Amino acid sequence: MFPLKYLAILMTALFLATGSAAEESWPMQQENKGEAQIVINGGKTGNVPFPHHAHQRSLSDCKPCHELFPQEKGAVEKLKADGRLKKKLVMKTCQSCHRKIKKTGEKSGPIGCKDCHSIR
Ligand code: HEC
Ligand code: HEC
Ligand code: HEC
Repeated sequence: MFPLKYLAILMTALFLATGSAAEESWPMQQENKGEAQIVINGGKTGNVPFPHHAHQRSLSDCKPCHELFPQEKGAVEKLKADGRLKKKLVMKTCQSCHRKIKKTGEKSGPIGCKDCHSIR
């Protein structure tokens, strides 16, 4: 009959659809905001989960990151492989912003290696 597997897929699709409809209610700087949640390749130290839309909301600016790489999936990997983006430069950008904001006492992001490279 109706396998449970398909029901699970249907539920996931429904969940994603309503989730993204809610995302669209906040003001947009651009049409394509990319994925809400991204996993960045962090090499041997472990991969780095990155809440993309949360940053867009709290920073209301694309530039801190996208002046280093274009708004394309896989851009960081590609530029690093081509030698056009220094390894760990994106990482230093993440880290130094977190440090700066932490000093002001505002809610900030992780600074320690394992806190970012948490997917092993
Ligand atoms: C704090 C860093 C940061 C900010 C701010 C940021 N992005 Fe991104 N964005 C990323 C990263 C990291 C990727 C993944 C690149 C890769 O796959 O190599 C990405 C990828 C994308 C992509 C490609 C599709 C995808 O999801 O992988 C789009 C489109 C995008 N961003 C749009 C935006 C827009 C529009 C803004 C501003 C409203 C923005 N981003 C702000 C870090 C950021
Ligand atoms: C704020 C998050 C964050 C913190 C904290 C962080 N990293 Fe990273 N790291 C990243 C991201 C994102 C990348 C991939 C992009 C890049 O290379 O800039 C990365 C890449 C790397 C790479 C691979 C570079 C390459 O391509 O060869 C290594 C190794 C690494 N990190 C080690 C560390 C160590 C060791 C620490 C602690 C001293 C650390 N990271 C702290 C986010 C972080
Ligand atoms: C220009 C400043 C800035 C940059 C660049 C930046 N962040 Fe953040 N990050 C923040 C702020 C502010 C917060 C806390 C507010 C929030 O959760 O939205 C945060 C929170 C986080 C959190 C914790 C989210 C949570 O749910 O607690 C993670 C993980 C994170 N950042 C990863 C990264 C990674 C990886 C990068 C680089 C690709 C990065 N950030 C680049 C400002 C920045």
